[in-house]
Amino acid sequence: MTEKSDPFLELFKDPEHAARYAEGPARFMPGFHAVHRMAGVLIREYAPPDACVLVHGAGGGLEIEAFAGENPEWTFLGVEPAKPMLDEARRRLGGLNERVTLHHGYAEDAPRGPFDAATSLLTLHFLNAAERQDTVSEIVSRLKPGSPFVVAHCSFPQAAKQRDTWLTRHREFAVASGVDPQEAENARETISGNLATLDPEIDEQILRDAGLSDVTLFYTAFTWRGWIGRVS
Ligand SMILES: C[S@@+](CC[C@H](N)C(=O)[O-])C[C@H]1O[C@@H](n2cnc3c(N)ncnc32)[C@H](O)[C@@H]1O
Repeated sequence: MTEKSDPFLELFKDPEHAARYAEGPARFMPGFHAVHRMAGVLIREYAPPDACVLVHGAGGGLEIEAFAGENPEWTFLGVEPAKPMLDEARRRLGGLNERVTLHHGYAEDAPRGPFDAATSLLTLHFLNAAERQDTVSEIVSRLKPGSPFVVAHCSFPQAAKQRDTWLTRHREFAVASGVDPQEAENARETISGNLATLDPEIDEQILRDAGLSDVTLFYTAFTWRGWIGRVS
């Protein structure tokens, strides 16, 4: 694995941040747990009952825990570049670890599979458009024909006025969910200044350009979007 320089990754490499990670996402992403359930439903539509699922950005283990609980025959290959997040996933998964292989690295470091399905949840927004395209292509190249790939991340209109409005709504949702107002404002500024968010239309095109067909929006909530596509 070749380490990449990325300020967000530095955050996920902080063991204290990793230990607190699990309490965060549901307060910033409306319907976070429902997204896991929806992803499970979508994967079950197209993958076999004993699917082997590639989980990109598996840090923390939250989606693997949700998928494994509802799908007793599924096995998982989780790939993740931040070791403390992998440690946290191992701790969280407990007895489920027997169905899970955790791999330290980026998408391109993952075994070739081929896998029956893949997910990338709350992760692709950390990559700029070119990196995102390469990463999605790496994942698609590890899937069997017809396999589903489910993604969900920050993706919202980027025209200045709309961007500002949606970022404020993102902050206010977090405050309404119990996040300290200053922490929510810091998150808003971080997304605004440092995250490579794209217009939803560009995100969709990236999925198509990587060789996915039937790319369908299944989730939209404030600054968040989720799509499913299938390998052509
Ligand atoms: C917000 S967390 C999401 C974790 C998990 N998928 C979830 O939904 O709870 C983002 C994860 O992406 C990882 N990450 C950051 N940059 C990445 C990259 N370039 N490739 C893959 N994963 C990355 C982080 O280390 C972190 O564990």
